[in-house]
Amino acid sequence: NPSLGAALGLDEEVLADVLAAFEVREVPRQARLFEQGEPGRSLYLVREGSLKLTRTTASGRPSILAVLGPGDTVGEMSLLDGSARTATATALTPAVVLELSQARFDRWLADQPAAAPLLLRHLGRRLRASNDVIADLVFADVPTRVARLVLKLADQFGLEDERGVVMIEHQLTQEELAQLVGSARETVNKALASFAGRGWIELGRRSIAVLDGERLARFAR
Ligand code: CMP
Repeated sequence: NPSLGAALGLDEEVLADVLAAFEVREVPRQARLFEQGEPGRSLYLVREGSLKLTRTTASGRPSILAVLGPGDTVGEMSLLDGSARTATATALTPAVVLELSQARFDRWLADQPAAAPLLLRHLGRRLRASNDVIADLVFADVPTRVARLVLKLADQFGLEDERGVVMIEHQLTQEELAQLVGSARETVNKALASFAGRGWIELGRRSIAVLDGERLARFAR
């Protein structure tokens, strides 16, 4: 699977090695791969489908950290520092993940010269993304955050058709979209409806079509 190798920054040979150590696991829709607070004994690579990462806040309100799709890894943090899972991973669609046990992960890290730089790059990227999220929460208004989310989902899950329309089958409910933005459902819906009213997007059931990505991007800046 060359796209997987590219996603992980691995060449073919190293990838074959890594993949041999994984076990295939199927996760039915709505099932949890792991839960916040439990000890972590494996990391996972998403091969098919999508999952959401939820964190329950002190107030009991769930917040979604990220939506994961093919090529994404999840669960490495507990393996690295030995602490509990920092979030719950739930399948939004039937998903297939590749599971790597702690022992194999430790061995891979010790034996593969490419492993540590790869992992550091991955963690650095996530830290950058988290900093962007924090900055958005502090400085950007909800419509801007919604526009940025739509662009991010388009990047991650969008498929462009012959007319240049980018179709995003995000599989998220309105409530989950709001949890990703970090705002109330009504506020997020209002922003989406206003983008739709301007002809930039078209809203479907658990999907969004981006009709004018350029205007949306200009708004998001
Ligand atoms: P772990 O803490 O073992 O379990 C939850 C996982 O969610 C964590 O490892 C990371 O792999 C992943 N994770 C945590 N925070 C983020 C984030 N902001 N974006 C993407 N993935 C994350």
